[in-house]
Amino acid sequence: MHNTGLTSYRYYRDAVERGWDPSGIDLTDDVEALVEAHREAPGVVEYLKGTLAKFGAGEESVTEDLAPFAVALESIEDQMFLTTQMYDEAKHAEFFDRYWREVVHEAEDRVGVERTYPDEARWFPDGYLELFERNAEATEALLGDDSPETRVRAYCHYHLTVEGILAQAGYWWLTRNFGDEGVFALPGLVEGIERIRGDEGRHVGFGTEKVKENVRGGVSAGVVTETVNELLPLVQDSLRNAEAAPVDEEDFVEGRASVVGYAAEKHGERVEAIRDEEQEASV
Ligand SMILES: [Fe+2]
Ligand SMILES: [Fe+2]
Repeated sequence: MHNTGLTSYRYYRDAVERGWDPSGIDLTDDVEALVEAHREAPGVVEYLKGTLAKFGAGEESVTEDLAPFAVALESIEDQMFLTTQMYDEAKHAEFFDRYWREVVHEAEDRVGVERTYPDEARWFPDGYLELFERNAEATEALLGDDSPETRVRAYCHYHLTVEGILAQAGYWWLTRNFGDEGVFALPGLVEGIERIRGDEGRHVGFGTEKVKENVRGGVSAGVVTETVNELLPLVQDSLRNAEAAPVDEEDFVEGRASVVGYAAEKHGERVEAIRDEEQEASV
């Protein structure tokens, strides 16, 4: 019998109940909006494409990097949850792939500009590439040198930084800039992102719970701060395109500076909660 009181089991059930289909979202209005935007705000379109490319590649990477957790974690409830997370990440990657083919390419063809592709090197700054390389190393470490501290480091890379800071901040930024009150509205993108954010909330919640569990078991909360702080400059560097004209902050409803602020705030709240756990454990 499964232990239905465990957080991982509850997250597993939540994933099952809130399932959605990336191919079921209507993208027709997005094509119209992007055709118009190519004429009126080409700089914003360029930056948007870079952001979508980074998300698409990021979702593919995290799909691949999750497997070591499934090898390391023992309980059936954790395994059940991880299965849903892997499935979620694959759906997120599918959504971005579909968006590029059905919206970006369609709009480019209609405007008559050359097609761009999400795997072009110009979207990916060095900080981004290094962040994902380190994420892969941190999760692969679970296969060789599994210890509570190795686990905390892996959760800090994957769940707290890549998902909890970079992805959540990026999704917030996209929703603010391309929602109803944004620079221009992309309703299909925003709907997909709302679904993805719902899934990510569960993933980050799981990672944070696991870090707390290990901190209660004796791993220093300092490991969390140290690991995340090391990665923060890479997160900041990830918020740009590698080779594109610098964007004019005034073209956006929320510029890059506010993304960094949003990310720092969210992260600060989580670290507080982890520190509280450490204090309670030591009383
Ligand atoms: Fe994801
Ligand atoms: Fe995720």
